[in-house]
Amino acid sequence: MNNSNNKRETFSSGLAVFFATLGSAVGLGNIWKFPYMVGENGGGAFVLIYFICILLVGMPIMISEFYIGRSTRKNAVGAFEALKAKPFWKTIGYMGVLSSLFIMFFYSSVAGWVYSYVFKALKGDFLPLASMSMEDAALNASSQYDAAVSGSISPFVWQFIAVTVVSIILIAGVKNGIEKITKTLLPLLFALVIICCIRALTLEGAKQGLSFLFLPDFSKLSASAVLSALGLAFFKLSLGMGTMTTYGSYFTNDNNLFATSARVALSDTLVSLLAGIAIFPVVFTFGMEPGMGPGLLFKTIPLVFSKIPLGNVLLVAFFILTSIAATTAMLSLVEVPVAFFIEEKQMSRNKAVLLSSGLILIIGLLTVHPKSVFGNVVIAGKGFFDLFDYLSSNIMLPIGGLLITIFVGYVANKDQLSYELSNHKTLNNDGMIKFYISILKYITPALLVIVFLNSIGIINF
Ligand code: PHE
Repeated sequence: MNNSNNKRETFSSGLAVFFATLGSAVGLGNIWKFPYMVGENGGGAFVLIYFICILLVGMPIMISEFYIGRSTRKNAVGAFEALKAKPFWKTIGYMGVLSSLFIMFFYSSVAGWVYSYVFKALKGDFLPLASMSMEDAALNASSQYDAAVSGSISPFVWQFIAVTVVSIILIAGVKNGIEKITKTLLPLLFALVIICCIRALTLEGAKQGLSFLFLPDFSKLSASAVLSALGLAFFKLSLGMGTMTTYGSYFTNDNNLFATSARVALSDTLVSLLAGIAIFPVVFTFGMEPGMGPGLLFKTIPLVFSKIPLGNVLLVAFFILTSIAATTAMLSLVEVPVAFFIEEKQMSRNKAVLLSSGLILIIGLLTVHPKSVFGNVVIAGKGFFDLFDYLSSNIMLPIGGLLITIFVGYVANKDQLSYELSNHKTLNNDGMIKFYISILKYITPALLVIVFLNSIGIINF
């Protein structure tokens, strides 16, 4: 961010805007969540519905959040005041604070697993896979995962480390440095995922893996899968909870909001698809179960690298880069409650960070692993891990998104909206603006409502 103007910080250039926004979007969602949800929900048909959600729900909402943030240059709660909206609309900001805590409860434990995998790979825990038969290697990778995540102490320690790293960065305010790191490391992560893909595509089960990922079979698609695809689109693009509003508030005035949202959505989706291309061939080659759930990434990636030259070095690099992607996403998540406590509750930055991390660690203990100490506690048919995931992605973010859609589509002043989206009339994009407004008014909210009604069984399609 650029300090040269002393009114309020902005990102230094269009490229910085792109990478910072992508740094929030790209994270465990691409590498860990997308593949396992595709696996659990039957493959290609889920991917297709996910694309539709990104295009018709995600992108219009991202543009709307950018608009709210950049036109007011305020945080997610203050922005609605600045737009002279009724107090009700601040609910979006408050709900965002809650959503980000709910997401962090489970996200930080998965980040802990990823950190622990860096050390497992460094210690050479996966080296023996190279000389094993396929069956034994698959069994070994699975049992290593089970042991790593269900231990009685170490998962808590790793989660604690992950949250501490995030807190230190937030307190030290070295975000500038982080932005620079993201700029180099995101392309590296991208390159490494491509290497994984190339390796995976040489495996026997490559064809089956690709068909699973890309050929839609609608008979496998349930109503709850459609809601999950929608929730995943929100989670992936960090939408519906104020993150993109806050980021938008740092954008430069000449940034084309349409182009940024398209670039971010496209790059993010590409990373998810590449992760899928790297993982599903392994699943079919080694006779694994695509619907195995949250362990999918951890049980397959060590196998991808097991029998190639420099495999263990690449494995270490893969988990380091994934840890960094998870950490930059967590920075944007925790910044939401931190900014709220500072600006609305007049706390110091240190106190705000400590309070947020404290809450995350105490309640996050419950989620360390679905099979750990608290794994037997079930509320509404779900363990804590699934419960926080379900409530945030499938309920709170889409409701936040619906409110944002209604606010920008029906309440906000359209002249001001067009003025902002045309970068104060310096862009000649009237057609684009009209097109966006009609999608936002009619298509996005209709889809959101239909998916909700469908998932609770009021309508069926
Ligand atoms: N988009 C991030 C990911 O996919 C998660 C996230 C959600 C970050 C919401 C910020 C806000 O990993």
